[in-house]
Amino acid sequence: MTLSTPLAVALLALWTASPATATAVSAAASASASVTIPVAATAVAATNPIANAPFFPSETLQLTDGVLARVQAALGSEAAALFDFGSSTNASSLSLPRPGTCKLLPDDAAWPAPSTWSVFDQLLGGALIKTVPLAASCSPSWPQYNQTACDAVSDEWTLPAPDLASGSSCTLGGYSSYAVNVSTVAQVQLAVNFARNAGLRLVAKNTGHDFNGKSTGAGALGVWTHHLKELAYYEHYRLGNYSGPAVKMGAGIQAFEIYEKANALGVTAVGGEGKTVGVAGGYVLGGGHSPLSSRYGLAADQVLALEVVLADGRFVTVTEQSDPDLFWALRGGGGGTYGIVTSLISRVYPKLPVTVSTFSFTTGANVSVDTFWAGVRAYMQRFPVNADAGTYAYFWVMSTGPDAFEFLMNPFFAVNHTVAEFDALMRPWFAELDQLGIGYQPNTTYYDNFYAAWDAGFPLETVGTVTMMTGSRLFPRANFEDAARFNQTFAALRATVSAGYPLLAFNLKADLPTGYADNAANPAFRQTLMHAITSTSWTSNASRPAIRQQMDHFTDVVLGEWRRTCPEAGAYMSEADVLEPHFQQAFYGSNYPRLYALKQRYDPTGLFFAPTGVSSENWHVQSLDGLPDQNGRLCRV
Ligand SMILES: Cc1cc2nc3c(=O)[nH]c(=O)nc-3n(C[C@H](O)[C@H](O)[C@H](O)COP(=O)(O)OP(=O)(O)OC[C@H]3O[C@@H](n4cnc5c(N)ncnc54)[C@H](O)[C@@H]3O)c2cc1C
Ligand SMILES: *[C@@H]1O[C@H](CO)[C@@H](O)[C@H](O)[C@H]1NC(C)=O
Ligand SMILES: *[C@@H]1O[C@H](CO)[C@@H](O)[C@H](O)[C@H]1NC(C)=O
Ligand SMILES: *[C@@H]1O[C@H](CO)[C@@H](O)[C@H](O)[C@H]1NC(C)=O
Ligand SMILES: *[C@@H]1O[C@H](CO)[C@@H](O)[C@H](O)[C@H]1NC(C)=O
Ligand SMILES: *[C@@H]1O[C@H](CO)[C@@H](O)[C@H](O)[C@H]1NC(C)=O
Ligand SMILES: *[C@@H]1O[C@H](CO)[C@@H](O)[C@H](O)[C@H]1NC(C)=O
Ligand SMILES: *[C@@H]1O[C@H](CO)[C@@H](O)[C@H](O)[C@H]1NC(C)=O
Ligand SMILES: *[C@@H]1O[C@H](CO)[C@@H](O)[C@H](O)[C@H]1NC(C)=O
Ligand SMILES: *[C@@H]1O[C@H](CO)[C@@H](O)[C@H](O)[C@H]1NC(C)=O
Repeated sequence: MTLSTPLAVALLALWTASPATATAVSAAASASASVTIPVAATAVAATNPIANAPFFPSETLQLTDGVLARVQAALGSEAAALFDFGSSTNASSLSLPRPGTCKLLPDDAAWPAPSTWSVFDQLLGGALIKTVPLAASCSPSWPQYNQTACDAVSDEWTLPAPDLASGSSCTLGGYSSYAVNVSTVAQVQLAVNFARNAGLRLVAKNTGHDFNGKSTGAGALGVWTHHLKELAYYEHYRLGNYSGPAVKMGAGIQAFEIYEKANALGVTAVGGEGKTVGVAGGYVLGGGHSPLSSRYGLAADQVLALEVVLADGRFVTVTEQSDPDLFWALRGGGGGTYGIVTSLISRVYPKLPVTVSTFSFTTGANVSVDTFWAGVRAYMQRFPVNADAGTYAYFWVMSTGPDAFEFLMNPFFAVNHTVAEFDALMRPWFAELDQLGIGYQPNTTYYDNFYAAWDAGFPLETVGTVTMMTGSRLFPRANFEDAARFNQTFAALRATVSAGYPLLAFNLKADLPTGYADNAANPAFRQTLMHAITSTSWTSNASRPAIRQQMDHFTDVVLGEWRRTCPEAGAYMSEADVLEPHFQQAFYGSNYPRLYALKQRYDPTGLFFAPTGVSSENWHVQSLDGLPDQNGRLCRV
C-alpha cells in the first residue's frame, strides 16, 4: 500500500507549536485557523518481537502519548482531552455507565460541533466520511436533492425501496453518522478515543456482511477497516510451539483475496465459503466455518497472533504468551466486542486437491413426496461418515410448489479426495437413491488445488435484504447417530421445509485440531455435524406490527421446533436469528461467564456494543419501529 497521503510522518515536522489558547471544544476550529493541526501519528519501528513478525506499514503509524502532548499544545487541554487515551483497562474505578445513560445522537446538544468534527478530521489526515444515504438525491430534505442523480440511483436499485420514488422522508436509519476510512493504526486509536471521550456510539465495520446489524448503529462513529489490505507470507514462521508457514493479513482482506494469494504461494488458507466475507474481521472473530473445517477446524483455530486497538485506545499485540485471556476471547468470542483488530497471523497448509460435485433431485412423475424425503433422509444418515471423511457439503432443500420439492447439492466439497474416492464415499447414498427411483446427475470435477475448486464450486451469494430474516442451529452429532433423535430431527426439518421455509445447510464438523490452543468459539461447533439455516420473508408493504408478529412466529415456533431436537446445543452467531432467545447460551455456550468477565476487564465502560455481542444485555437500542434494528438510541439498561 502507499502512504502518500498527509499521513506521512514528514508532515509532523511541518507542524509548529502555537500559542493557541482554545479551551472549549467548539473553539477548536477557530484555533485551527491560526495553527496547523498535526496529523496525529508518529512512526515507530516495524520490529515486533511479541508477534515475531514485523508490523505492516499501516501499523507503524501510531498514536502515542508524545503525539497527544503535541495535540494538546495545539488545541489546548480541554479540546485535546477528547483524544486522550482511556484509563488502564484494569482500573477498578471504571465500570459500566449508570442505568439510563445513553450514547449521543446528532440532534443532542452535547453532540460534537461541526468545528470539532473538522479538527478530528484534520488529526485523521482527512479520513473522515460523513454518511450520506445512497438515495439522498431523491429527497428534498437533503442538500444532495437532484432529480437526474435520483433517476440514476433508482435505475440501479434492486432492493425493495417503497419510499424512493415518493420523495418522502429519507434518513440514515441505523447507519453510522460518520465513518473513519482507516489506513493506519493511529486513525483507529484516534477514533476509539474520540468516541469514548465524546460519549458516541462506536462500531467496527469491515464488509458490513453481518446478518444481525452488528456493524451498524444510529449516531455511531464507524471505524471502517475495509482498506486495511496488506498481506505478508512467512514460509518459516515460529511462535510458541508453532513452526511452519503462516500469513499475516490486514483486517480488510476478503476471502477471495487470501485464497488467490495463498494459491499463488502454493499454500492453502482457511477462510469462508462466501467469496466476499472479511476474513480477519467478524468472520474469524466469530468462529468462522469453511470448506476446510472438517479437516482443519474453525478459522479462529488457525490464529496465532493479532494486532488490536483496545477500548482504552492502546495498540497491543495479542498472542498466547502475551495475553492468554484476550487471545482466547478474540478467537471466537465475537466481532466488535473486545477491540478493533488491524491484522492477524494465521496458519496455512500445503496445497490440497479437491473433488467438487453438484447435483439435484426433485419430486416428479416417479418421485412422490414421501420418496423424495426418503432420499433426503438417506443423505442425512450419512452425515457422520461424510464429515469424518473431511468433506464439507452445502445443500438446499426447498418447497417449489404444492407437493413439490427440490434438493440441491451446491456443492459437495470433497477435500483431499480423488473422483474415485468421492464416488466410493457417495456410493451407499446413491445406491439408495437408485433404489428409490430418484434421478440425479452428479457433475463431478477434480481440481489439484483448493482455490480453483472453491472458485468453481461456490456461488456468489447475496444475503441482506430488508424483507427477510434468518435463523439457524448447530445440530450435534447425536442428532444423527442416535436413532430416536435422528427421527425427531428429520421430522422437524421436513416440517420446516413443508411449511415453506427453505433449508440451507452445511454438513461439516469443526473439531479443535489436536495440539491447537483452545479458544472462545461456540462449544456447540465442536459437537456439530450440521449448521442449518432457514429464513422467513415478507412483502415490502407489510406493516411493522405484521413483520414483528412474523418474526416472533419464526423465532418461537419455526426455530423452536429445531431447538427442541437439541436444547443443549447452540447456533452460530454470525449466521443466526437476531432474536435468538437466551443468545448467551446459544451463541457462546459454557464460555459465556468467562467472556463476560473479560469484557468487563477489557472494556469496562462498554465502548464496544454489538447486538447479541458479549455483555450486550447491559444495553438497549430504542428502536424507532419496534423491530430488532439499530435505528434508535443506545442506552444502558
Ligand atoms: C455472503 C455471505 C457469505 C458468508 N459466508 C460465510 C462462511 O462461509 N462462513 C462463515 O463462517 N460465515 C459466513 N458468513 C457470515 C460472516 O462470517 C459474518 O457475516 C461476519 O461477521 C462477516 O465479517 P465482516 O468483518 O466481513 O463483516 P462486518 O459486518 O463488517 O462485521 C461483522 C462484525 O465484526 C465486527 N468487526 C468487523 N471488523 C472488525 C475488526 N477489524 N475488529 C473487530 N471487530 C470487527 C463488526 O463490528 C461486527 O460486529 C457469510 C456472510 C455473508 C453475507
Ligand atoms: C488485570 O486484572 C486481572 C484480574 O484482576 C489480572 O489477572 C491481570 O493480570 C491484570 N492485568 C494487568 C495488565 O494488570
Ligand atoms: C445533478 O446530478 C447530475 C448527475 O449526477 C449531475 O450531472 C448534475 O451536475 C447535478 N446537478 C446539480 C445542480 O448538482
Ligand atoms: C478510503 O481510503 C482508501 C485509501 O486507504 C482510498 O483508496 C479510498 O478511495 C477511500 N474511500 C473513501 C470512500 O473515501
Ligand atoms: C418413470 O418411470 C417409468 C416406468 O419405469 C419410465 O418409463 C419413465 O421414464 C420414468 N419417468 C421419469 C421422469 O423418470
Ligand atoms: C490426503 O490423503 C492422503 C491419503 O489419500 C493422506 O496420506 C494425506 O495425509 C491426506 N492429506 C491431508 C492434508 O489430509
Ligand atoms: C460441470 O461443472 C463444471 C465446473 O463447474 C462446469 O464448467 C460445467 O459447465 C458443468 N457441466 C454441466 C453439464 O453442468
Ligand atoms: C425411526 O423412524 C424409522 C422410520 O420411520 C422407524 O422405522 C424407526 O423405528 C424409528 N426409530 C426410532 C428409534 O424411533
Ligand atoms: C502448543 O501450545 C498450545 C498453547 O499453549 C497448547 O495448547 C498445545 O498443547 C501445544 N501443542 C504441543 C504439541 O505442544
Ligand atoms: C401489498 O401489496 C400487494 C400487491 O403488491 C397486495 O396484494 C397486498 O395486499 C399488500 N399488502 C398490504 C399489507 O398492504
